[in-house]
Amino acid sequence: MPPTAALATLDPASLVLGQPVIDDEHRQLCALFNSLLAGGGDLGGTILHLDEYSRLHFTIEEEFMRVYGWPGFADHRRMHREFSDQVMNLRRMQLPSDGKVPRTVLAWVRNWLVGHIDVEDRAVVAFLAGRGA
Ligand SMILES: [Fe+2]
Ligand SMILES: [Fe+2]
Repeated sequence: MPPTAALATLDPASLVLGQPVIDDEHRQLCALFNSLLAGGGDLGGTILHLDEYSRLHFTIEEEFMRVYGWPGFADHRRMHREFSDQVMNLRRMQLPSDGKVPRTVLAWVRNWLVGHIDVEDRAVVAFLAGRGA
């Protein structure tokens, strides 16, 4: 994608994995990314909400993994922490006066969410389904 191309909104329907609790939380994360992408409004509040909601989601997902014995738990948790660290950096950033989050940041958040949900979370959900979760 050329550096000036517009980033697409996230469609949660494209990231449904089949575990209702996790899918519902991913839907919220997609909505928060879309608010971040739109910019404006209470941008600081949106970033704060993304931070808090993603941490809540990670805690719940990690609890599923821990209870059902997902062997990739430590690696998965490390990825979650990496995301939280980046969102914390975003919280500390001086908010742009035009109400737009820098494109590189948006691209990172979007790519992380899509790649993580579609690959890492998908593997977890398949494992959980095999355990009747
Ligand atoms: Fe995850
Ligand atoms: Fe997730």
